[in-house]
Amino acid sequence: MTVIEVSELTVRYGAAVAVDGVSLTVEPGELVALIGPNGAGKSTVVNTLSGLVAPASGSVAVRGRLAHVPEGRQVFGELTVEDNLRLGGWRYKERDTAPIFAVLPKLVELRHRRAGLLSGGEQQMVAVGRALMSRPDVLVVDELSLGLAPLVVADLVAHLKELNTTGGLAVLLIEQNARLALDLCSRAYVLEAGRIVAEGPSAELAASDRVSGAYLGGVVADG
Ligand SMILES: Nc1ncnc2c1ncn2[C@@H]1O[C@H](COP(=O)(O)OP(=O)(O)OP(=O)(O)O)[C@@H](O)[C@H]1O
Ligand SMILES: [Mg+2]
Repeated sequence: MTVIEVSELTVRYGAAVAVDGVSLTVEPGELVALIGPNGAGKSTVVNTLSGLVAPASGSVAVRGRLAHVPEGRQVFGELTVEDNLRLGGWRYKERDTAPIFAVLPKLVELRHRRAGLLSGGEQQMVAVGRALMSRPDVLVVDELSLGLAPLVVADLVAHLKELNTTGGLAVLLIEQNARLALDLCSRAYVLEAGRIVAEGPSAELAASDRVSGAYLGGVVADG
């Protein structure tokens, strides 16, 4: 059964229309990218999935557990890494942090540190780990790579791939780095000014003039 189903979603902030008739789906175990320029409405779409923003019209259905890594990480800075993780499992009474340390082993040595004092990349790992604590069926990541060094990003991508292949985790990925998003995900949507302007298999999108020119620097991706 489709885990995320967004139908004809419209969201307004006051008089401004931020999202205008967007439909998208994520199937179980699927890796799907949502790309588009700043202000396109990407965060608004995913914020309706976790109930942070209310639709003006249209509908949003989530089947199963959804975990959201919000834009800007938003770890609890005063709390330790371990307590941040525990909070992620609170809603579903999931207390065991061991599986998270197993997939994100770098967090082990940081477990007693205050999250606010960690580097950006370390905080992003905490944010991902915290989201995984709820044992989600689908993980929504809003800007995975923002501000992170390429090696840290590669590491996180490898973890997501592993969770996808071994655990069947579905992922909806918002990403500034379109190449990374299209490489990781099999399918993608392109959002511009609140509307989906292109969608389809990542390879096809990467080869299209619209995506190649605007998002991949005009060079057709080879992967
Ligand atoms: N809380 C809010 N109140 C009013 N306007 C908002 C609010 N949040 C977002 N907007 C506006 O809605 C539009 C879509 O914003 P959104 O954050 O969804 O875009 P985005 O695609 O995630 O952009 P970015 O890539 O910069 O994160 C923008 O014009 C933004 O200024
Ligand atoms: Mg955003």
